Amino acid sequence: MADDLRGFLNELGKWNKLRVVNNADWDLEIGTINELMAERQGPGLIFDNIKGYPKGYRVATNLMHHREGQKLAFGFSKEMTDLECVANFKDKLNNFTPIPPVEVKNGPIKENILTGEDIDIFKFPTPKWHTHDGGRYIGTGVITITRDPEEGWLNFGTYRVMIQDKSTLAFYASPGKHATIMREKYWAMGKPCPVAMCFGQDMLLFGISTIGLPWGMSEYDFAGFIKGRGINVVIDEETGLPIPANAEIVACGFSPSPEEDSRPEGPFGEWQGYYASGARNEPVVHIKTLYHRNDPILFGQPPIKPPVNTWFPIPLHTASFLWNRLEKAGMMGIRGVYVHGPGNRIIAVISLKQRYLGHAKQVATLAGAFLQGGACTGRYIITVDEDIDPSNLDEVLWAVCTRCDPENYIDIVPGFLTSPLDPMLDPEKRARKNYTTAKVFINACRPYHWKDKFPLVNRASDALRQKVLEKFSELFKETEQK
Ligand SMILES: Cc1cc2nc3c(=O)[nH]c(=O)nc-3n(C[C@H](O)[C@H](O)[C@H](O)COP(=O)(O)O)c2cc1C
Repeated sequence: MADDLRGFLNELGKWNKLRVVNNADWDLEIGTINELMAERQGPGLIFDNIKGYPKGYRVATNLMHHREGQKLAFGFSKEMTDLECVANFKDKLNNFTPIPPVEVKNGPIKENILTGEDIDIFKFPTPKWHTHDGGRYIGTGVITITRDPEEGWLNFGTYRVMIQDKSTLAFYASPGKHATIMREKYWAMGKPCPVAMCFGQDMLLFGISTIGLPWGMSEYDFAGFIKGRGINVVIDEETGLPIPANAEIVACGFSPSPEEDSRPEGPFGEWQGYYASGARNEPVVHIKTLYHRNDPILFGQPPIKPPVNTWFPIPLHTASFLWNRLEKAGMMGIRGVYVHGPGNRIIAVISLKQRYLGHAKQVATLAGAFLQGGACTGRYIITVDEDIDPSNLDEVLWAVCTRCDPENYIDIVPGFLTSPLDPMLDPEKRARKNYTTAKVFINACRPYHWKDKFPLVNRASDALRQKVLEKFSELFKETEQK
C-alpha cells in the first residue's frame, strides 16, 4: 500500500486509471470536468497548469468514485466482489488492535512552512466546484484532526472547508460528529479548539476519515492497524497535533467559539444532490501554520448529484461498520449487510437466518440506532432472509414485494438525528433547528411463526442447476456467471 498521495497516483497510473488535464480553470471548469468523468466511471484526474497558478500546483480528483481507486486505497485485490470487500473490512473492524502513529523529526510536509503574514491559502488552486457554491472549497477530500480535551484521543473526520480569507477557513461538521462534540468541549472550557486540516494525503487516511468509527477509537490507530505499521507523523508545535509526515498540504490553527468568530458557510452542492442547507454561520479556523510539499497536490472529492457516489462505490463506511456493530452486540445469524442509496448511506439491508421470534425486528431496530450521524443515514432498514443477497437491490425488492405485508411489517419511528443537509426538513423544522427524521423498518423476512408454511421458491435446486450446467457447459459458456 502506498504511503502518500503520490504513491497512490503512481499505482492508479499502472492500472491505467489516471489522466493529466492541462489548462483548466479553477472557476467551475475543474468541477465540471470532474462531474462528467465521475458520471462516466472514468479515470482519476490530475489537473496541472491551472489558470493563474504555477505549473506543479496541482489538483487531483475522481480518485475514489470508481472501484479501482477504492480497492487500491483500502488494499483490496481487483478481483474481490463488493460484498467480499464489505465482509473483509468488517472482519478487520472486529479484530482491531491499535497501532499508534510514529513520531518522526522530519517529513516531506515540512518542505515549506509558512507563518504570520506569509500564510496565504489562495496559493493553492482551490476550485469553485459547483455553480451555486458560496465560495471556494479547499476541503472536500480533507481530513480534519482534533484531540479530545478530556480523553486525549485523536479523531479524523472529513468535514467540508470553505475559504474565508487568506488565513481563515470555515468548516461544517454536522451535529453529533466527533469534531463537533470535541470543539464544543474546548469552547465550554473557554479555550479555542486546536485543529489540523490535511488537503491531500495517503488515500487510506482519507478513506478512514469518512468512516464513523466509534467514539474513542482513533482513526490514526486504525489506519496503522490496516497498514500493519504506525503512520509517520510530525508534530505541529503551535497546536501540538500530529500531522501525517507525507501529507501534501496541511493547515494548523485554532477554532474559537462561534461567539468570538463564525462566518457564513455555504451554499454548497451536497451529497444528496441539492443545496439543502443553504448558507449559515459556522465555526472558523484561524491558520497559524501552513505546511506544504514542493509542487503540492490538492485532493478534491466534491459531492456529485446521485446516482454518482460522493462516498465510495463499496459501502465500507456504512455496511462493514454496521455488520461489525451487530456482531459485537451479539446478534446471531447475520449473513450479510449492505447499504444502498445516495452515499451508500440511506437504505440498509441486513440478511439473516432467523433463529427466534422477533429476531429480525431486534436486528433492525439495533441497526437503526447504530446507523446515525449524517443526513438521513440509515433512514430505511430492511431485514431479509438468508437466501437474499443484500448487495443485490433487485433481490431485495423481490423480498420486499413478496414477503412483507405493509400492514403489519413496516414500522415508522420518529425522532432520530439527521442534519441540516436533509432536503426533506420542512422550513419550520429547519428554523427550529429540529434536525430529526423518522426511520422506516421494513421486515421482509418470511413471518417467523409460519415460515415453514411459506410458499416454496420457484427455483431449481443448486444440485440440479450444477448438474445441468456441467452437462450443457458449451451452451452456457458465453453467459458464464460467477
Ligand atoms: C467526501 C465527503 C465529504 C463529507 N463532508 C462532510 C461534511 O461536510 N460535514 C460532515 O459533518 N460530514 C461530512 N462527511 C461525513 C463524515 O466525514 C463522516 O460522517 C465521518 O465519519 C465523520 O467523522 P467522525 O465520525 O469522526 O465525526 C463527508 C464524507 C465524505 C466522504
